[in-house]
Amino acid sequence: MRIGVLTAGGDCPGLNAVIRSVVHRAVAGYGDEVIGFEDGFRGLLEGRHRKLDLDAVSGILARGGTILGSSRLERAKLREACEQSKELARDYGIDVLVPIGGEGTLTAARMLADSGLPVVGVPKTIDNDISSTDRTFGFDTAVGVATEAMDRLKTTAESHQRVMVVEVMGRHAGWIALESGMAAGAHGICLPERPFEVDDLVAMVEERFARGKKFAVICVAEGAHPAEGSMDYQKGEIDLYGHERFAGIGNRLAIELERRLGKEARPVILGHVQRGGTPTAYDRVLATRFGLHAVDAAHRGDFGMMTALRGTRIVMVPIAEAVTVLKTVPVDRMDEAESVF
Ligand code: F6P
Repeated sequence: MRIGVLTAGGDCPGLNAVIRSVVHRAVAGYGDEVIGFEDGFRGLLEGRHRKLDLDAVSGILARGGTILGSSRLERAKLREACEQSKELARDYGIDVLVPIGGEGTLTAARMLADSGLPVVGVPKTIDNDISSTDRTFGFDTAVGVATEAMDRLKTTAESHQRVMVVEVMGRHAGWIALESGMAAGAHGICLPERPFEVDDLVAMVEERFARGKKFAVICVAEGAHPAEGSMDYQKGEIDLYGHERFAGIGNRLAIELERRLGKEARPVILGHVQRGGTPTAYDRVLATRFGLHAVDAAHRGDFGMMTALRGTRIVMVPIAEAVTVLKTVPVDRMDEAESVF
């Protein structure tokens, strides 16, 4: 069998672990050939590919990023790109395509599968917002980075009696903010799922200072927004890929808090630091298992499906089911976090 593999969308710690395990299972396990397309679907469309053998994936398990490179597909050109990709994958003699990606990539994977190309997807995103899987790899690493950052920020905040507003990634779902905020003991967490009241944050900080705790850390997801009438905040523009370009909620909120509290507040935007560097052990293992199961699924002919974690087991689920709705933070998880502020 000839398997084509590509990594598309925003990169994520653990992508190399998937590529490595796909090659190990396919080449050493089944005697397959693996072709890696460079820079996501762009490499497929432009004919940039290379053979991946065991040597090519040696030593990449712990490396962040993706040895294949990645790119995003413009939403407006998605259908056209999928049509071309299908034809080209056939020209290259690809029996099964394994796209590793987030919501956008899996939407393209679904289109390709619907049009008859054998596809087995592997979900990835640090945001952990893909439905049908309990976890995506990359998330654990991102949460670890954000948690460590907040642990560090607490000591400098305390020295200067400041409020730190830490903006973490999470466009539509606040999983990173929720879990890193809980892990670091943040004093406020703002999620895209629940508009926040600035007055509540002001009251929380004033109450802490009154108790002699003269600093506060507030963790804000980049996609969080204030409740209507709570603070002036312009939503961002929509970019080429159909994503909102955020207007900088962390910065805006820090300015607003400083003004209302009369105390120093500083924004810290963690940004792509959360996506870079070496994956945690958890992410390496999950990514490796996804790769192994994707190749097994390809050999069973489980097309149009993607790997997913359910409890401790890896299962195959329809890609169509996973891309229909994003997995957002449920109310009970927000309530749990709020109980320990
Ligand atoms: O979807 C993953 C993600 O890291 C989001 O959390 C973030 O909003 C986005 O990608 C950033 O994308 P880009 O790398 O294109 O700036």
